Amino acid sequence: MDQILLEEILKGTRVRNILYYPRISSTNDEALSRLKSGGVDLDWTLVIANEQTAGRGRMERKWITQPESSLAFTLIIQPELINNNEIYLFSPLGALAVCQALENEYGLKPSIKWPNDVLLDGRKTCGILAETCWLGDVLQGVVIGIGINVTSDSIPPQNALMFPATCIDDALGKPVDRLQLLQGVIQAMAEWQPEIGSNKFINSWESRLALKGEWVRIEMPGKEAIKGIVSGITSLGDLRLKQENGKEIFISVGDVRLRPI
Ligand code: BTN
Repeated sequence: MDQILLEEILKGTRVRNILYYPRISSTNDEALSRLKSGGVDLDWTLVIANEQTAGRGRMERKWITQPESSLAFTLIIQPELINNNEIYLFSPLGALAVCQALENEYGLKPSIKWPNDVLLDGRKTCGILAETCWLGDVLQGVVIGIGINVTSDSIPPQNALMFPATCIDDALGKPVDRLQLLQGVIQAMAEWQPEIGSNKFINSWESRLALKGEWVRIEMPGKEAIKGIVSGITSLGDLRLKQENGKEIFISVGDVRLRPI
């Protein structure tokens, strides 16, 4: 991977600017710091690295990116008009795009562990961290950080895992080209962005929902865990959970962790 190859493969896509780093702390941090310094138009700027030394995951977890083994990138989006309900839908946007690329390019059957982890054979192969940058109450932009395990070197050691993990090469049984996969994901993001929050968007997300009909535990920082059976997604993207007493409750997309029981 290098700047020239990236420019070549992403030519003709919606990406307007590529910032490639052989090694960086975190592509999300770089994207956020570019947005904070303000001024320039950064819409559809891609920050991508071959290695991250301080990659971040959801809920303040670490995300390890070994050189040559993964895709680790952050796409900056500066939506013109943003509905507050839609901010949480940028991470499922990333998940849908990754699923579509895996389905179309490789015939794989990924699923999405709500809200946005992409699973292959029930194991995590991609994590997404979407963050926002505000100046006062004005949104400067959204950064969608995507980490995809490609080769087996990208899978963290078992004792460092909260959830079983796999990689695309193992799920497919042969090596994939990281740049071709990146191109597929970027193209799918461009297709799905105008659909964010639409019925089509929610239905496509729901149709790939993992653990449907299974008991799960929802953990939220500072709150008691909730158990229930996954029954679907609402039109706002909330998780529908059927509790033991038969009542359905809705869990908002936010800082939550979903675990199978
Ligand atoms: C998670 O599953 O907890 C989310 C992981 C997100 C990792 C990606 S890798 C590219 C981008 N840069 C980061 O520091 N994090 C995201």
